Amino acid sequence: MASVGLVGLGVMGRNLALNLSRRGYKVVVYNRTKEVTDRFISGYGGSGLTPAYSPDEVARKLDAPRIILLMVTAGKAVDDVIRSISPYLSSGDVLSDLGNSHFRDTQRREFSLDPSGIHYCGVGVSGGEEGALRGPSIMVGGPSKAWEILKKPMSDISARAFDGTPCASWVGEDGAGHYVKMVHNAIEYVVMELIGECYGVFKALDFSNGEISDIFQLWNEGRSKSYLLEISAKVLRRKDELSGGDLVDKILDSAEQKGTGKWAAESCLELGVPAFSFAVAALDRSMSSFKLVREKASSLEPNRVNKPNLGRREAQEALGTAFSGAQLCAYAQGFSLLEAARNEYGWHTDLAEVARIWQGGCIIRADLLKQIREALLSGAHDSILLDPDIHREIVKCDKAWRNVVSRALEARIPLPGFTSTLAYRDSLFTERLPANLIQALRDYFGAHTYRRVDREGVFHTDWSGG
Ligand code: 6PG
Repeated sequence: MASVGLVGLGVMGRNLALNLSRRGYKVVVYNRTKEVTDRFISGYGGSGLTPAYSPDEVARKLDAPRIILLMVTAGKAVDDVIRSISPYLSSGDVLSDLGNSHFRDTQRREFSLDPSGIHYCGVGVSGGEEGALRGPSIMVGGPSKAWEILKKPMSDISARAFDGTPCASWVGEDGAGHYVKMVHNAIEYVVMELIGECYGVFKALDFSNGEISDIFQLWNEGRSKSYLLEISAKVLRRKDELSGGDLVDKILDSAEQKGTGKWAAESCLELGVPAFSFAVAALDRSMSSFKLVREKASSLEPNRVNKPNLGRREAQEALGTAFSGAQLCAYAQGFSLLEAARNEYGWHTDLAEVARIWQGGCIIRADLLKQIREALLSGAHDSILLDPDIHREIVKCDKAWRNVVSRALEARIPLPGFTSTLAYRDSLFTERLPANLIQALRDYFGAHTYRRVDREGVFHTDWSGG
């Protein structure tokens, strides 16, 4: 008998199955298409994997309580698999969706399976193909009872945090696992946006791809050390087999997206969380995809981008500092969204624990998560930027951050990531924003009323009288 069932043998599913079997788990694997299952089993020399050719065979080959991991494309396919397999499961079994599902779908699925006693879990898994094989970061959402069953296998296959503990944890009820993964991806979008913008400024200053790679590598040896910087340095060095030049220069500048970044921005709007940069990072991908319009528009203004008024060394240092401040603001927006969601949905999400399990295996793993975790442990739940140490860092970044952004904007280089993170930082630290005038205008044209700073209550003015 096997201890884990894995449904869906795309590359992520295959790698997770291999990871489990390498850790000594007997895994029963199943794919809707028989040939896919057979090809996987015949290509794999070990003894830890057993094929199944129907959902009921998966269930029959598993010890109780059954653990079934679904690694199928988010959306209808998840509902189809649940429908096909749940009749063969019993109360106490754990059915987990490890794909990038929308948290509301996960909530719906959990509620509908609840009467059957089957524990349904939405599990965020990050780390890409490599992570699935060698150790991802695993964000488990769902009934806490299910975590008791999933804890050992998920911990065994996961990456390790800085203190050596497994990057797998329970992050809250029903949709929390997928929500936390969605926020992870939104931070991923912003950090990638920032790295892309640094690359854009360096290009405008005529740095070669190799030089930019060296700079990213250097930053990656300091405070900003992160997986995304590390791979950016590697990507910039890759040669194109077809043309012999740098591969990055041959890639169309039109960034795609599968949806998690957009969902995070939607959730910000829904919960009223001012994580500007999440919307900006998703929308700037959309801007990049307006390729034809951009081509037309830029032909009206040839040579519009100037060289920023910055020395090469100055640019390198100022951008490095700006990146470190902006990156902190990206994480700050993520944790502030998580705090709001936790309150809204009644989840028992431990934010410091999230900062711990993001330290290894996932795409946004970065050294600064150590400091963020400490800030959260000391209670910086309003915003990690209010933590004295993090605040000091941000203040230290200020001058260079503003200087490099101004110089680049003067040169007409678009910097939505850097400007939005800076706007977030500035707005958050501004006691009185000009929103009083917005309130006055709303009241003027729509009698929407306003509150006053000097007395309680709700007021309306007959503006025509003035
Ligand atoms: C991860 C990644 C992974 C994937 C996303 C991003 O954590 O392993 O986030 O989930 O890369 O799907 O996708 P898009 O950039 O296509 O939205």
